Amino acid sequence: MKASAPLKNEARRVFIKTYGCQMNVYDSDRMADVLARAGYGAAERPEDADLVLLNTCHIREKAAEKVFSDVGRLRVIKEQARSEGRDFRIVVAGCVAQAEGHEILRRAHAVDIVVGPQSYHRLPELLASGGRVVETDFPPESKFDHLPARAGVRQVSAFLTVQEGCDRFCTFCVVPYTRGAEFSRPAEKILREAEALGARGVKEITLLGQNVNAYHGASADGAAWPLAKLLERLSDVAGVERLRYVTSHPRDMSDDLIAAHRDLPKLMPYLHLPVQSGSDRVLAAMNRKHDRGFYRDLVERLRRARPDLALTSDFIVGFPGESDADFEDTVSLVEAVGYAAAYSFKYSPRAGTPAAEMPQVSEPVKTERLARLQALILDQQTAFNAAMRGLTVDVLLEKPGRRPGQLVGRSPWLQAVHVDAPAAWIGRVAPVSIDAIGSNTLSGTLSEAHFRERAIA
Ligand code: 5AD
Ligand code: SF4
Repeated sequence: MKASAPLKNEARRVFIKTYGCQMNVYDSDRMADVLARAGYGAAERPEDADLVLLNTCHIREKAAEKVFSDVGRLRVIKEQARSEGRDFRIVVAGCVAQAEGHEILRRAHAVDIVVGPQSYHRLPELLASGGRVVETDFPPESKFDHLPARAGVRQVSAFLTVQEGCDRFCTFCVVPYTRGAEFSRPAEKILREAEALGARGVKEITLLGQNVNAYHGASADGAAWPLAKLLERLSDVAGVERLRYVTSHPRDMSDDLIAAHRDLPKLMPYLHLPVQSGSDRVLAAMNRKHDRGFYRDLVERLRRARPDLALTSDFIVGFPGESDADFEDTVSLVEAVGYAAAYSFKYSPRAGTPAAEMPQVSEPVKTERLARLQALILDQQTAFNAAMRGLTVDVLLEKPGRRPGQLVGRSPWLQAVHVDAPAAWIGRVAPVSIDAIGSNTLSGTLSEAHFRERAIA
């Protein structure tokens, strides 16, 4: 029997709950890194933690209400911990923290610290201060210059934030207010972070930014690099076999980035290119700065550069003033483009954004339009997946699947693929012949060619 380790009563533990987008997932990882340096390990459940951090999202729905109800549940745990003489603190981070600030401390007495997305490198100081604090400034220093190395990464596929904030001010969107002005990280810092990820066994990097293709980071040669150039350099990072980026604005899809889809084999044939609506009238009211014709032409140019490119999008239904005819334009755009998958949402007013002041579409109309659009998108997604049957696709094996002996990985088009393979193969790209199509996943068998090659090697 193994000798049990001495109980570490002094070890502090943090439980992090992440809401929303991939950038929040990245931020939560980085907050875990910051807190690890301050002596916090990871807790599996809030009940086992000394610190609970809610990394919140404000983009849609009743974001603040969700956070307040989660805090209500945590308050009970906090009271229990305190009655046992244990410390228990609650941090609200992320975009709701930024948007609501002091209001959170006022309404939720159990919350100790409110910290916005640009200030979380200061968490140890804020915790040390002992009191109830709000830190939602956009500090002059970049948090990226104060974050520790990415010690915690053990995945095959990792996110890397290269750009944050947005200057586009779509009239429905809170991002320019919660994440602030557009900011690109210096190229060298991104390359170093990517090299560190590659050295830790990461095989796929997804570059993140609210408007990632607006990237224009300073480089050592003094020029600002566009995203295409950054991707080209990232293609040389040892160990990294796949690159992706998300989320892009159609207007920032430059010619060199389109060409990168043709020229860079490591850049996966998949692009999330939100259009939001198919109606020129609505696109203008959204301040999207592109119309339907521009988007369709862009899609054509992309497909010429990379014929197997899978496209995905975001759609908002029931934007203020959206008529039946406007909605039909969205339906016909989806039919014309053909998507591999897409997200669609009912418009939800965000306080402080221009669209929140415009005449609203009724809830039943939004519900009906959303159901129709989602049915159409599901049909397209199903057809896209079904077309994979019988093909052999390269799958990056990421982690164990549900059954013993099974692994799950991703196709170049981001589909989840289940396949029987040894656990030691996690991290390898293997050709899989696809023989079954589920609603959200594909499954297949390792292609014989792979076995033959390995036998020869
Ligand atoms: N209401 C509904 N959906 C929204 N999105 C952003 N803001 C809103 C809003 N106020 C959607 C957009 C965006 C995605 C991340 O969320 O489609 O692309
Ligand atoms: Fe929001 Fe994207 Fe528009 Fe920027 S480009 S305001 S992040 S929807």
